[in-house]
Amino acid sequence: MRNGVSIPLLGLGTFRAEKEETYRAVRWAVEVGYRLIDTARDYGNEPSVGQAVRECGVAREELFVTTKLSNADCYAGRTKQAFFDTLKTMGLDYLDLYLIHWPVPGYLQAWKELEELYSDGLIRAIGVCNCHPEHLAALERSAAVTPMINQVEMHPQLAQKALRGYCANRGIVCQAWSPLGGDGAGLLQHPIIQDIAEKRQRTSAQIVLTWAIQQGIIAIPKSTHRDRITSNFDVLGFSLEVEDMQRLGALNRNRRTGPHPDEIAGAFHK
Ligand code: A2P
Repeated sequence: MRNGVSIPLLGLGTFRAEKEETYRAVRWAVEVGYRLIDTARDYGNEPSVGQAVRECGVAREELFVTTKLSNADCYAGRTKQAFFDTLKTMGLDYLDLYLIHWPVPGYLQAWKELEELYSDGLIRAIGVCNCHPEHLAALERSAAVTPMINQVEMHPQLAQKALRGYCANRGIVCQAWSPLGGDGAGLLQHPIIQDIAEKRQRTSAQIVLTWAIQQGIIAIPKSTHRDRITSNFDVLGFSLEVEDMQRLGALNRNRRTGPHPDEIAGAFHK
């Protein structure tokens, strides 16, 4: 990242994972080599992630733990309090990355508090999620520190090219949530992806994860199944041919499986 801190290109997502399955998933993930674990206060599983991080047997400094400020805390101006609550619930002394979950009203003020926590050394990197260029531009006008990361929904059907260009120009690294196309969205069954997977003797998930990381996009696929956690990580040393990348590049439909940031922000204006 722009501040010199390294972040793994592939990590484990934990959205919609219950507490116990989250604990097991994180333990399995660390066992097979994942070092980046992503959670959020709104997922309700921060305690399980923290516990697994503390008990997994890998040194804390070798792991990269990300969590996110909840919309309610951001809106209510409770950023610092929420951050310290999170550290306490997770049983951790610091976070590797703390993100503002959505650009809801209050996010510009919340960012100032993230900057302070960052300069106090309590977080190794700070960033945002679900920000479009207009949200980042507004932040730029008042921020002292440019976000290091912007985590957004991204996969071959939502390639976010313009946003990626905007972020690249500012040294903001893009991170993809729902890199597999989300829960039940059918991306992995897409005939083109299945065809590439068959030709390259890989799973569809490995194909779309490689599509991301080969472009420098950090992917955080969610799974609570040991076999999937293992196979999703088995992409090191594999690369897609130019022809494959072109076929995947042609799949973009600007198709979201999750909400648009304006929908989330709009809910706070009602
Ligand atoms: P599960 O947790 O039951 O394995 P995304 O990260 O794009 O949001 O996708 C997450 C969804 O994809 C979850 O429903 C997860 O289910 C499923 N999933 C994760 N890995 C794979 C895989 N290798 N093959 C098929 N589905 C997967």
